[in-house]
Amino acid sequence: MSKDYLKTAKLGTKVINIGIDSDKAHGAVMPPIYLTTNYTFEGLGQKRTYDYARSGNPTREIIAEVIAELEGGVGAVMVASGLAALDLLWQDLPGNRRVVVPHDCYGGTQRLLNARHKQGLIDLVYVDQGDDAAVTAALSEPTALLLLETPSNPLMRLIDLKKLIDLGHKAGAKVAVDNTFLSPALQNPIKFGADFVVHSTTKYINGHSDVIGGALVCTTPEDVATYRWWANCVGATAAPFDSYMTLRGVRTLFVRIRQQQQSAQSIAEFLHSHPRVKVVHYPGLPSHPQHELAKVQQAGFGAMMSFELAGGLEAVKQLFDHIELFSLAESLGGIESLIVHPASMTHAAMSPEALATAGISEGLVRLSIGLEDAADLIAALDRGLSQIA
Ligand SMILES: Cc1ncc(COP(=O)(O)O)c(C=O)c1O
Repeated sequence: MSKDYLKTAKLGTKVINIGIDSDKAHGAVMPPIYLTTNYTFEGLGQKRTYDYARSGNPTREIIAEVIAELEGGVGAVMVASGLAALDLLWQDLPGNRRVVVPHDCYGGTQRLLNARHKQGLIDLVYVDQGDDAAVTAALSEPTALLLLETPSNPLMRLIDLKKLIDLGHKAGAKVAVDNTFLSPALQNPIKFGADFVVHSTTKYINGHSDVIGGALVCTTPEDVATYRWWANCVGATAAPFDSYMTLRGVRTLFVRIRQQQQSAQSIAEFLHSHPRVKVVHYPGLPSHPQHELAKVQQAGFGAMMSFELAGGLEAVKQLFDHIELFSLAESLGGIESLIVHPASMTHAAMSPEALATAGISEGLVRLSIGLEDAADLIAALDRGLSQIA
């Protein structure tokens, strides 16, 4: 039966339905996992759809279709990690290989960019993407690629996607947006003109903290073909089992994030009024500098936040010694709540100068809100904060 009815369905419906009931062999409702490395040829010179799993795999095809659909792209390339997805982007830069990136992008992205710059693969320019004059200056020269990240990690600063994407295009750049922090359920950069969307599917898309993966969503068939070629060439393609797990996880993306951000709002409001907390960075708070932008650009405020403790590093130590329920661990976007100290954990690859420039202080704490009951999470934070001398 044709699935034409899906064309007009909501994304929350598509994410459940793509690939369902597609098994021709046994009519399995859930698409089966193909773990095989290789596929037989029907005869000499008669290749079937697939020949070798690095180049192509049916399970990987389904998760790619789901993610491309969610982001409004033409296709997606599924790879072994978010960083592997980013690393595809500069394999095929046209022209001058000049790449403009936010100075406060994910620390691992910076490490990768710095390494590629050192090798001479790219010419790297860091910019404060929230400073209009600095962005305009950085894009006053012809540029091959502009990479954006919004909300930023860990300070939850937002940028006006339409404005920056237009500026990037005027400089001749293709524009890629790392949409990991909000997921396609809450933000779709392609609607604002982005050429690529990058995901660490490790986070909200899989959502269960048990797979490392990445996706590069493209807006032209040529780019899909180019980056699939590169993913196969460098051997970065996602494993079948990871693809299967990610497909299983993404099915519940919309309900997970709805609940997680509802809890996040209550937690941000609690922290905002707490005397030990200097400032809370959460776009759902009216005090957030881009609260109004968040309301129009995003379909929700998300479930990530950070806050600064008035007592600096010492206060962070005391909180971390006593915090219950939140696991002290890196990563984000899973069903379990996490707490991290960005300066010494997620962003440890950045130099002290780069941390200072990005505004990541020693007293900053980041939370990823999971699916536990919000009242329990607030009680845990309340008890932990009360232990700060
Ligand atoms: C915003 C962002 N982009 C990319 C990555 C890299 O993803 P992965 O760890 O899957 O390589 C991360 C990882 O934390 C991230 O937070």
